[in-house]
Amino acid sequence: MTGPRVVKVDPDRPHPGAISEAVHWLATGRLVAFPTETVYGLGASAALPQAVSAVYQAKRRPADNPLILHLADASDLAQVAAEVPQAALKLSQALWPGPLTLIVEAKGEAYAAARAGLPTVAVRVPNSALIREIVRALGAPVAAPSANRSGRPSATRAVDVLADLSDAAQLALVLDGGPCPGGVESTVVDVTTDPAVVLRPGGMPIERLLETLGPNGVIRPQGQDREALLRRSPGTRHRHYAPSVPVVLVETAGELQAQWDRLKGQGLVGVLASDEALATLQGADAVRFSLGPKSRPAVAASRVFIGLRQLESAGVVAIVAELPEERLQGWAVADRLRRAAEIAAPRPQP
Ligand code: TXA
Ligand code: MG
Repeated sequence: MTGPRVVKVDPDRPHPGAISEAVHWLATGRLVAFPTETVYGLGASAALPQAVSAVYQAKRRPADNPLILHLADASDLAQVAAEVPQAALKLSQALWPGPLTLIVEAKGEAYAAARAGLPTVAVRVPNSALIREIVRALGAPVAAPSANRSGRPSATRAVDVLADLSDAAQLALVLDGGPCPGGVESTVVDVTTDPAVVLRPGGMPIERLLETLGPNGVIRPQGQDREALLRRSPGTRHRHYAPSVPVVLVETAGELQAQWDRLKGQGLVGVLASDEALATLQGADAVRFSLGPKSRPAVAASRVFIGLRQLESAGVVAIVAELPEERLQGWAVADRLRRAAEIAAPRPQP
């Protein structure tokens, strides 16, 4: 079986040949993987229901988990949304293009195949000239989830896309634009309610949303609100972001040392942590992957999925991961690590 074609691109100054090849495949119902400022996406023309269902097949994604529509311009929002609430208008004007997805009431049956039966639709304008030009030339939104097999850490490099999806028959083309600068997915915000609600923390910090909407304009669900959140965002119900080895979370350098001491007898142990925590770790044969300095949450975001995948490929028996402080992109990094650990973590030893 031959895999997809891989073509190098500059995401900011894409070669017209790469755009037209991508548009050709999308218009004929095939799938194209492409870099965005967050993670790689696995795209289909949102106008072709069969192509959209091929995305679910390729990823083995549960059918109840809807896709994000990628638009070329904020003004395209009116074509997919039944109405554009004030909060959507403010956020889209202030923060698009960027790592922010808005949930709005869908307009009629427009692009219903990507909505998994929901009356709402997820939309974003990515900060990538490449994908915006593809959408413009295609003349329809591109429906795209992250380009990983369902449940796996998201793909932030073309090699990760190929590792997970190269056997997907419908995948015609992988545009290789190098590593994604953001590294975690977009922040998903439901603007159908007032205040708006963050359904998934991501590359756009909630601090920026609060600046745009005011201190009472958006809420971050915690504690018992989480249950309601799980009903509203189908994706959060599913297994997510997990490498094939257990992930053990720690909050301090002391806990990191203790978990390393506990696990080291079992084989190679991976450590995903800040530079500060790695500097104090006594463990010569730990397989280390740095999340950067504690003061730079954006660096942690750009490295977290590469770290999970790289440590997994190094053959470790477990990954001990340090939770970052939950500010700026650190909230998204902590969220992804928690979900990775929820699934795979070994039960605490008695
Ligand atoms: O940065 C990103 O958002 C990347 C790039 C490729 O754009 N895409 C991405 O897609 O992360 P995906 O499918 O992996 O995550 C989309 C999330 C899921 O949690 C899904 O459940 C949620 O958005 N979602 C989509 N439509 C929704 C809707 N109508 N209501 C609530 N949540 C929705
Ligand atoms: Mg995903």
